[in-house]
Amino acid sequence: MICVCAQQKGGVGKTTSAINVAVLLAQAGRRVLAVDVDPQFALTRRLGIELNALKATVVDVLAGWVDPDEPIVSDVYGIDVMPATRELAGVELALAGEVGRESVLRAALDSLDYDAIVIDTPSNLGLLTVNALVAADVVVAPVAADDEGAAQGVAELRGTIAKLGRLRQPLPDL
Ligand SMILES: Nc1ncnc2c1ncn2[C@@H]1O[C@H](COP(=O)(O)OP(=O)(O)OP(=O)(O)O)[C@@H](O)[C@H]1O
Ligand SMILES: [Mg+2]
Repeated sequence: MICVCAQQKGGVGKTTSAINVAVLLAQAGRRVLAVDVDPQFALTRRLGIELNALKATVVDVLAGWVDPDEPIVSDVYGIDVMPATRELAGVELALAGEVGRESVLRAALDSLDYDAIVIDTPSNLGLLTVNALVAADVVVAPVAADDEGAAQGVAELRGTIAKLGRLRQPLPDL
């Protein structure tokens, strides 16, 4: 099961939800991977992952430089983590010119074996968020009850998910 926390509006609780969902699933006995695809890498930072110590990150996976299991940091509060750095912004630009640019993350995660993968996304509907949505089985979009902007964000998110429907077809065997 792949669960994506997404919302165009910023500061609504995407990263907080992603960490909570991931850690709670792990506490319930599931094998969980949290993937950070936000160039602000708040999930990576909040889990206390030291960027200097990393040989690879999700940046290298999306660029096709390493296998998807290489950047995974094991057992952080009971979950595995695929961390991000700010270089993700550059990868998003580079991906824009690629064929199959919306499905790169989905194809990479397909080779990993977890009960649940939870993905944190940036506050826009750009190519990184689209890659997460194409991989998603479940989308969590946090909205405060009195936040009209966040409610509007959900409407736009639903429109994007509807448009991406055709990309959710099974991956062809190559
Ligand atoms: N359920 C909640 N109730 C109150 N405050 C919350 C809740 N969830 C998150 N917050 C607070 O709101 C702020 C923004 O949360 P968070 O970073 O998770 O949002 P975000 O949507 O990921 O932001 P960004 O768009 O910058 O990625 C944080 O200070 C967080 O502690
Ligand atoms: Mg965030």
